Amino acid sequence: MVSYVAVEDGRVIGYIRGSVKKCGLGSLEVVGVSPNAFSKGVGTALMKELEKFWRRHKMRKVYTCVSAHNTKALIYYIRNGFVPEGYQRNHFRDGVDEIMLGRFLKYK
Ligand SMILES: CC(C)(COP(=O)(O)OP(=O)(O)OC[C@H]1O[C@@H](n2cnc3c(N)ncnc32)[C@H](O)[C@@H]1OP(=O)(O)O)[C@@H](O)C(=O)NCCC(=O)NCCS
Repeated sequence: MVSYVAVEDGRVIGYIRGSVKKCGLGSLEVVGVSPNAFSKGVGTALMKELEKFWRRHKMRKVYTCVSAHNTKALIYYIRNGFVPEGYQRNHFRDGVDEIMLGRFLKYK
């Protein structure tokens, strides 16, 4: 497991955490950017660092999920190469569906 932070003027403005498994499947567990720093490329920079970690560990595929109503995050994931692979209704809690996302690293 690894975590990266983005720092500006001595303050943490972004965070990402991911992991690797022996089977070659990596995960992105959490990503968050301070609302004041949205849309400046911080999330993308964090994703690029996590991608380097996955590639160093030779991950074949990576996955995450996003709440279906979280349009900004869904677009962020799609821009960063993830593709919707499934849909889970009322998954973590009632009334909130999850979109399952995957990205193959091997073929890029
Ligand atoms: C989803 C999230 C991580 C994206 O982070 P972000 O730092 O805003 O994303 P980025 O800036 O890298 O990329 C997205 C936007 O920045 C723009 N962008 C990318 N690089 C840029 C740069 N160097 N300069 C200016 N803009 C840039 C993109 O075009 C895109 O524009 P948009 O927001 O207007 O559509 C952030 O919105 C967040 O923390 N959301 C709340 C938590 C959350 O939902 N996490 C995911 C849960 S599954």
